[in-house]
Order: sequence, then structure tokens, then C-alpha cells
Amino acid sequence: MSHIAYANGRYVPLRNACVNVEDRGYQFADGVYEVVYVHGGRLIDAALHLDRLDRSLREIRIPAPMPRTALVHVLREVLGRNRLARGLLYIQVTRGVARREHAFPSPEVAPALVVTARRTPGFPASAEAWAASAVTRPDLRWARCDIKTVGLLANLLAKQEARDQGAVEAILVDRDGMVTEGASTNVWLVDAAGTLRTRQLGQAILAGCTRAALLKLLAEHDISVTEQAFSAEELRRGREVFLTSATSFVRPITSIDGAAVGDGTVGPVSSHLFDLFARHMRGNSG
Ligand code: PDD
Repeated sequence: MSHIAYANGRYVPLRNACVNVEDRGYQFADGVYEVVYVHGGRLIDAALHLDRLDRSLREIRIPAPMPRTALVHVLREVLGRNRLARGLLYIQVTRGVARREHAFPSPEVAPALVVTARRTPGFPASAEAWAASAVTRPDLRWARCDIKTVGLLANLLAKQEARDQGAVEAILVDRDGMVTEGASTNVWLVDAAGTLRTRQLGQAILAGCTRAALLKLLAEHDISVTEQAFSAEELRRGREVFLTSATSFVRPITSIDGAAVGDGTVGPVSSHLFDLFARHMRGNSG
């Protein structure tokens, strides 16, 4: 069966789906996106992702391409047409097609909406099976990392540097030596004193939907957490480190820059939160 994409009002085979060379997303990275995990036919944390999409659009002054109910219909239609019960939905909105000029098109043009879907491997069998290594890299990105823009070049370069070293993620460190986030994940630490921490929201990081969902689960289970930035040095001395994202879930990191985190095995906090999030995914009706 061929893969079906939604591109500007039409459902088309993925191989035939194309955008105009003057699409501002293509020329300027003038657009935003979302990645939603689909599990058992349910869109995990859908409301959080759609709220963040609205916010990203507002921040860069692109009008919503369609009302939310219509967008949800398109997402479901793409899933249905691809007979996909588990995988990823990719949603991208750009400012649209116009003759190349830095300032916004005037008069305004219609934003361009593309939705694709793809199958992914099953949910990892255990926290141990999902554990991985990371490297630290300087955070070379712009100053508005809270906007989920398609302008990801610095993230891509950092991710590739991680891959080149056999690691799954680059943990980004700002000029003050503080951890911001991963190239495509949020970073969590159980510090040397045993406190669970993740960086506070602000313009230096993306407000991860998995981060938000996990914070809610922690509150429901009376597990204390501190939203406070930590340094690369604290990261190195930490007992446990894990990442979150729509596609990483809760992912234990047992080695950073070639050195073991804690004793080099998946710690109790990471293991417990991996399980809590797995339950959330099975039960969440999005
Ligand atoms: N990335 N930080 C960055 C820079 C990200 O790109 C992502 C998500 C996250 C985690 O956000 P969430 O929990 O909402 O997925 C944090 C997606 C998965 C991607 O670009 O593929």
C-alpha cells in the first residue's frame, strides 16, 4: 500500500506530494511543526501538541491553516488512509508560497499545511532495552528555542556529531555551562543529592509535551521534582539522567561523553518513570 500524505488540501501518495520551490518553509525555514506519537490508534498528548502548534504559529505570526476540529479530522484521515495504528504523525505549517523576499508576503498568502505519517518500531520492551548514551555539545541555536520551528540546522549538526560518536543524543550546553536540552529531547537529572530536576521553561528550551505529561504524572504520584537548570558539571556527577520526547518517551541515558552515569545501569527513578509513562501511553485517550 502506498503511503498517503496530506498536502495543501489534498490526500496524495507520498511520492507525489510536493511543495512549491517558493514555499517559505523551503527557502527560509519560515514554518513550524509538531510530531505526535500514535499508539493503539490514539494520538498521545494530542491537546498539548495542538496547543503548542497554535502557540508556535502565534509567536511567528502565521495564521492557523484551519480550525482545530478540521485539523484533527485531517490527522485522523491520514492515519486511516495509511492504516496506521502505531507510529508518528508529522504536521508542518509554513507561511506559504510567495516571491522570495525576507519580509512577510503582502498581501498575506495562505499558510501551507503538510501532514505525513509513518510506522515506527513498537514501544520498547523495558527501560534497560531502551537505555542509550549521549554526548555533550555546545548549544549553537538561536535565542527562541521555545518556538518549534523547522529551522533545525544547529540541532541536526549536534545530533550527527552524537551519531558519529555512537550516541543517540547530543545534550546541549549553553555558554554559561548550563544544560539547555537535547538536540530533539528534554533532559532530566537525578542529581548527586538525589533531587529529580529538569530545566525550567523559558526561551532556551522547547516546552516538551512529554515533559508536561510527565510533570503531571509526577504530581499525581506525589513524586517531587524541581524545575531548575543544572550545569554540565552537575550532569556528569548525577546519579541518573534520562531524556523525554514524543518519540523517546522516557529514555535512560547510562553514559555521557564515554563516562558512566552513576553506576552505568538504569537507575530506579528512570526505571519507574519509564513504566509510568508506558502506562500513560496505554491509557491516555488524547
Ligand atoms: N522533537 N526539545 C527539542 C529541541 C525537540 O525537538 C523536542 C521534540 C523536544 C521534546 O518535545 P516533545 O516531548 O513535545 O516531543 C524537546 C521532536 C520529537 C522531533 O523534532 O522529532
